Amino acid sequence: MYRTHTCGSLRAGNVNENVILAGWVQKVRNLGAMTFIDLRDRYGITQVVVEEHSPAGVREAAAKLGREYVVQIEGRVVERSARNPKMPTGDIEVAAARITVLNEAQTPPFTIEEVSDGGDDLRMKYRYLDLRRPPLQRNLMLRHRMAQEIRRFLDAEGFLEIETPYLVGSTPEGARDFVVPSRMNPNQFYALPQSPQTLKQLLMVAGYDRYFQIVRCFRDEDLRADRQPEFTQIDCELSFVEQEDILEIFERWAKHMFREVMGIDFTEPFRRMPWIEAMEKYGSDKPDLRFGMEFADLTDAARGHGFGVFDQAEYVVGFAAPGCASYTRKQIDALTEYVKRPQVGASGLVWIRMEADGGVKSSVDKFFSPDEVRLLASRCGAAAGDLVLVLCGAKFRTLTQLCALRLEVAQQLGLRDPKRFAPLWVVDFPMFEWDEETQRFYAMHHPFTSPKPEDVEYLESDPARVRANAYDFVCNGTEIGGGSIRIHDAALQARIFRALGFTPERAQEQFGFLMNAFKFGAPPHGGLAFGFDRLCSLFGGSDSIRDFIAFPKNNAGRDVMLDAPSRLDPAQLDELYLELRDPAK
Ligand code: AMO
Repeated sequence: MYRTHTCGSLRAGNVNENVILAGWVQKVRNLGAMTFIDLRDRYGITQVVVEEHSPAGVREAAAKLGREYVVQIEGRVVERSARNPKMPTGDIEVAAARITVLNEAQTPPFTIEEVSDGGDDLRMKYRYLDLRRPPLQRNLMLRHRMAQEIRRFLDAEGFLEIETPYLVGSTPEGARDFVVPSRMNPNQFYALPQSPQTLKQLLMVAGYDRYFQIVRCFRDEDLRADRQPEFTQIDCELSFVEQEDILEIFERWAKHMFREVMGIDFTEPFRRMPWIEAMEKYGSDKPDLRFGMEFADLTDAARGHGFGVFDQAEYVVGFAAPGCASYTRKQIDALTEYVKRPQVGASGLVWIRMEADGGVKSSVDKFFSPDEVRLLASRCGAAAGDLVLVLCGAKFRTLTQLCALRLEVAQQLGLRDPKRFAPLWVVDFPMFEWDEETQRFYAMHHPFTSPKPEDVEYLESDPARVRANAYDFVCNGTEIGGGSIRIHDAALQARIFRALGFTPERAQEQFGFLMNAFKFGAPPHGGLAFGFDRLCSLFGGSDSIRDFIAFPKNNAGRDVMLDAPSRLDPAQLDELYLELRDPAK
């Protein structure tokens, strides 16, 4: 037997037992008369003690131990003279009677402890060492527990877990595809699925009316803290349902997850916010509702006072930052610099200080009387002591910029508490999104999303007005999931493709498999997908989904541990009939 207990399991009740532990040496402290060894496995850390009167072999072995040696230690559990209440095993230690080195270790390139001294790149390169650290182990255990809980809930609701292929055809809507050349079909390529969207719809046509899958998805897009080129979705689809049915089941599911995993009970229904309200009040389709600072439209009150910037703007909008009237000139300048950064892109910031004594001061005092300034501030709900921040310009661009500022101010005020959760559904998304660059409409969700029946009449005359039966699950400013009711009628699907600028031939070529399937009896259906990595990082209280993925890619999409992607052997290229071009040309 390698071990009788794990390094996290011994307690005062085990005192006097003979035990065998196996694990990694986290630390050796040699105090002369006594040597302490911290022995670690994924269950915890147990202190092992070697004393002057320990057998000579044990003392010798202890003297040779280095960090990360894998050892087996046999000994007796004894009560500690100085207890450590911070450690679950802190009441006891193991007096070593035998130490067997199972494997020696080179000195690791960084400390493998709760907090490491290793930089990001180094820890990514030696990810298997970083994964030994307790915080990452806790993250992966959380992820495991969540996956079990998801399966338990969905199974009880009658969902079938069905796998779909990873080698599929390319569909050039959405993000870029990762593609895989086919040796057996020269010059032809598979694509890795961005999501199993069309496949799960085909499962509905096939009669599997409640499907789910915890599935890897692949998207070749720019990476951020909450984006990986391969990530995992909790993908679901249901037949014979309306939007309300889907929101009901998955709200229950979300509450189940919060309760079982986090011990948090949400007794009230989640808030539902139309997309336009989310945009106008928070400047985002994924508003962070952990705090207020709602936006107010100031356009009419701001125009006509001779301040050219306001007068020429399509939209003027502001919010009150609570208690920030005390911000110094320097702090306000820093906020101005913040909104002017290229990532935010505003040209300037107008501010109003509602001073505690009832006075008011602003950066536009030249153009507005104190009462006029007060009117702007009161529109934003500002009270004495608040600082009102105002941006102007094209409507949606300005709203988005003000959203960035709202989040920055909230960060400074410590309002983005990772232990608080403010979930909501965003509903009534527009069906189409206009793209200036290509001068065409794109599907805001995807082209299989059904329009709201009452808006169908505007499909040709005013596409921008058409709303979709689409919904997102949002929490703390992150889009955790999204989905829609699908089109199951071939004629309506053809109209949508036309609105998106597809010729019937191109639509047939790309999505014929789905449209043809719909001719064989397609049930009304809909579904959604949650980003599993994002859900894990939300529950785990981290901004980065990388911390919850065993082997993630870095921001350049590289796996630095495996050194991938990498060049292919010329013979492999030959087999695939591929030739390389110099990217510089
Ligand atoms: P969507 O594209 O909104 O919908 O994706 C669903 C959820 O997946 C997560 N997500 C990501 N997570 C990490 N890295 C990424 N690169 C990434 N991209 C998306 C997000 C998002 O909310 N087929 C539809 C769903 C449906 O309609 O049923 C779809 O894929 O949390």
